Amino acid sequence: MKNSKNKLPAASEGESNISAMRTEWEENNHNSKTRTILKEDASYFLSQSVSSPCLSVISKAEGAYIEDTNGRRYLDFHGNNVHHIGYGHPKLKKAISEQMDSLPFAPRRFACESALALAKKLVEIAPGDLSKVLFTTGGSDAIEVALKISRAATGRHKTISFWDAFHGAGFGAASVGGEQLFRSHLIGPLLSGTEHVAPFACYRCPYGYPDLNGEAQLEICQTTCANFVRYVLEKEGDVAAVIAEPARAVPYIPPPGYWKMVRQACNDHGTLLIFDEIPTGLGKTGKMFACEHEDVVPDMLVLGKALGGGILPVAAVLAKAELDVGGEFAFGHYTHEKNPVTAKAALTTIKIIEQEGMVENAEVQGKYLLEKLNLLKTKHSTIGDVRGRGLLIGVELVLNQKEKTPANELAEAVLYRCLSKGLSFKLTMGNVMTLTPPLMINKEQIDIALEIIEQSLSEAEQTL
Ligand SMILES: Cc1ncc(COP(=O)(O)O)c(C=O)c1O
Repeated sequence: MKNSKNKLPAASEGESNISAMRTEWEENNHNSKTRTILKEDASYFLSQSVSSPCLSVISKAEGAYIEDTNGRRYLDFHGNNVHHIGYGHPKLKKAISEQMDSLPFAPRRFACESALALAKKLVEIAPGDLSKVLFTTGGSDAIEVALKISRAATGRHKTISFWDAFHGAGFGAASVGGEQLFRSHLIGPLLSGTEHVAPFACYRCPYGYPDLNGEAQLEICQTTCANFVRYVLEKEGDVAAVIAEPARAVPYIPPPGYWKMVRQACNDHGTLLIFDEIPTGLGKTGKMFACEHEDVVPDMLVLGKALGGGILPVAAVLAKAELDVGGEFAFGHYTHEKNPVTAKAALTTIKIIEQEGMVENAEVQGKYLLEKLNLLKTKHSTIGDVRGRGLLIGVELVLNQKEKTPANELAEAVLYRCLSKGLSFKLTMGNVMTLTPPLMINKEQIDIALEIIEQSLSEAEQTL
C-alpha cells in the first residue's frame, strides 16, 4: 500500500514551487545575483511547499509594484492581501516613525494610547455590535483566540469549517483549515472535534448541483450547501462555532442568502459564527467587511494582513460584548498584543483607507476588472469562469467550457508568461488565476494587467 505520508498534497494555496515550468522560468530569468541569493536562501531556510525555495528576490516594494533583483518590476496582483494601501505609503511610514520616537514598546501589563485608539476605531467601523477586541501579531493566532473564546463562551469544543479553507498555520488554525497542505499526516493528529463541510463553490458545486454561468440555480439546489451546515449542527448538537471566510479566498462568492441561512442555523443551535476576514477585511470586496454584502453580523470577526498597512504584522479579534468570558484566564497575552507601533500602523492604515476612498475605489475598479475579464471569457474558450467581488477576483482556466476540466498546465504557463511581462498573481487550486490587486489600484494599471493577461493567455493557448 502506498504510504499516505509520501503522497503529494493536492494543489490549493498556491502554485507549485518545484514544478518544471518554475525551474524553466528561473533559468531564463534570473541574473547571477538573483541565483546566488536564491541558492543561499534555499540552503538556510527549511524548505516548504509554496514558499521555499522562492520564486525570485524582491528588492523594492512601492505602491502597487514590487521589483526583483533582476531589475524587473511587477504589478502586484497578489501581495498576500497585505497591500491594500499600496506598499510604503508615506503617511504610514511617517506615523510609524513618529510612534517609534515617542513610544516604541509597552510591556503588556500596561495600557498605551495608540492601542486604545485602534481598539476604539475598530469598534467604530465594525459591523453590528462587535464591541470588544484583542490583538495578536498574526492572523493564525487571532483565529485561535477566537476559537478559545467560542469554547469558553459555549462550554463546547467542536467546530464546523470548510474543506479547502486556509485559516493559518498554527495547530488550532490548521485544524479548522481544510487544506491537505497544512493538514499533512506528517504532523500527526490535529485538534479533535473540528468537523468540516464542503463549502459553497457554485461553479463546481461539491454537492453536484448545476450552475448557470458560475451562478447558483437556487430553485434547483435549494442552497443545499447551507442546509448541510444546519444538518451537521443538528446531528452533532454541541458545536461551539462555525468558522469560515464570508467570501472564500479561492475566490468564491457565496450564493445569495447563504450566510443568512447559516446565521439562523447557528442561532437555532446555540452555535457562534466566526468570520475570518483576514484577507477580505478593510475593503477588499468593495465594502469595509465582506460580511456587509450578506447583511449578516458574526459573533466574532477576525482581521489581519492589511491591518498592518503592508509594513507591520498585526491582527485582531472583534467580539460581541457578551463574549468577554476570559475572566481570570487568558486567551491571548501575546508579547506584542498592545505594541504601540503596530497599533499605530493599523490605526493609520484604516484612516488612509477611509480618507483616500479606497473601499469605494475597490468597488469601482473591481467592477471594471470583472467586466473586462468577462469580455475576455467570450473570446477564450479556456476561461471557464470569471468571478469575484471588489478586488478579489478569480479567473478559472479549463480545457473546455462544457466539461470544465481544470487546465492546470495552461494556468501555470499563463502565470509564468505574465510574470515575464511584469504582472504577479498566484494560482489557487492549480487552475484559478487569483487576482487581488491593492485597493489603491487605478484604471491604467488595471488596463496594463488586462493586456498582459490577454497576451499571455493567447500565447500559452497556442504553445500548449
Ligand atoms: C483566510 C486566512 N485566514 C488566516 C490566515 C493566516 O494569517 P497569518 O498568515 O497572518 O497567520 C490567512 C493567511 O493567508 C488567510 O488567508
